[in-house]
Amino acid sequence: TGASAPIGITDLAFATAHFSLDLQQLADHFGIDVNKYYVGIGQSEMSVATADEDIVTMGAEAAAQILARHGSDGIRTLLFATESGIDQSKSAGVFVHGLLGMGPNCRVVELKQACYSATAALQFALGVVARDSREKVLVIASDVARYALDSSGEPTQGAAAVAFLVTADPALVEIEPITGLHTDDIHDFWRPNYLSTALVDGKYSLGAYLRSLEGAWGEFRSRGGVDIDQIDRFCYHQPFTKMAVKAHNRLCTITGSDLDADQRRAQIDASLAMNRHTGNSYTASIYVGLISLLERDEADLAGKRIGFFSYGSGSVSELFTGIVQPGYRALLRDADDRQRLAGRTPIDYARYRALHENVDAVQGEDYETAVETPGPFRFAGVVEHARQYQRC
Ligand code: HMG
Repeated sequence: TGASAPIGITDLAFATAHFSLDLQQLADHFGIDVNKYYVGIGQSEMSVATADEDIVTMGAEAAAQILARHGSDGIRTLLFATESGIDQSKSAGVFVHGLLGMGPNCRVVELKQACYSATAALQFALGVVARDSREKVLVIASDVARYALDSSGEPTQGAAAVAFLVTADPALVEIEPITGLHTDDIHDFWRPNYLSTALVDGKYSLGAYLRSLEGAWGEFRSRGGVDIDQIDRFCYHQPFTKMAVKAHNRLCTITGSDLDADQRRAQIDASLAMNRHTGNSYTASIYVGLISLLERDEADLAGKRIGFFSYGSGSVSELFTGIVQPGYRALLRDADDRQRLAGRTPIDYARYRALHENVDAVQGEDYETAVETPGPFRFAGVVEHARQYQRC
């Protein structure tokens, strides 16, 4: 096939909802020790979307940062990965394309397979660029994770978006071609069309995630993927940060890694920092983990190999690797991303509960949302069944 240009991620940006709930509030509501959340599942806060925020407003906020740096010329594909879709037909990406004033010569599509689909979008993008190295593909992953009130999934909610640009000769992370896949038709987590909250078999889902990791790793190795000692850092899908700790321990155990607990932890620690504060962001979560790793790891990661494990319930998963590129640090947005987390407005339990209940309050009627988000884009309401968005 001959040598071809490296392909991967050239820029990567983060956004989240503008309100947050400290999990102490939830622990107080349930009358339990907050360390079940802070320590047991490894989460301290979750981002909460107001009625005028959703996957489009967060996705647009992430993508706008990419376009501010690179422009939209030459982006002929926009892929929007989500499992909290806002329309059964029209891609959430078309709303973002409109909000950002992108040109008409662009294919836009939404991809769905639980939390996995941003990785499907990445693979789609790599294929597009491999066919024609002039192509640039904008991938957006955006989700609001919602479980029923008073359910055990509640502390693992959250909201965030990432956007990344896939090109030849990538400036941030080259994605290597060998991957390992694992698909299994199960019901560990799903959301029927008539529900706005996910259903989950919590304990079963943890086991399913770990079995998928073993399956995907097995195929990765059988296809010639590198051994674990050739991988410097790991970035896992994070429904909650403790899941990544469990996954990495499992991978180290099945591969016979000789690293001690501290060394294992050092391979994933920086990737957990941001998710601990956003909560689960489904499709975006693994790539929020990548931003967190690149920004928060004090070591120089240039030339280092990252192992990625992307899991989506239902289930489809993929294991792959990437190489951090020289000069990556200059492209990060550390200060802005810290401010995006620190600058959220904390809300109390009553406000959180009202927002949660509000999602199902209006169905099939015209309505306007109150102006609440301080973000650059807002969901203004529904007119004749069509969602209205505004650039603020
Ligand atoms: P639970 O039953 O409320 O919690 O559900 P638990 O009793 O299992 O406790 C959690 C941990 O806290 C345990 O640690 C306890 O020991 C510890 P572990 O034994 O597992 O290491 N603990 C404490 N630690 C310190 N101090 C204390 C204390 N008390 C207890 N005082 C569960 C937890 C995650 C199952 C629940 O929140 C849930 O169902 N969440 C949603 C499902 C989920 O996130 N699954 C993850 C795998 S599936 C996935 O990743 C896909 C997904 O993102 C969706 C998609 O793909 O679209 C979910």
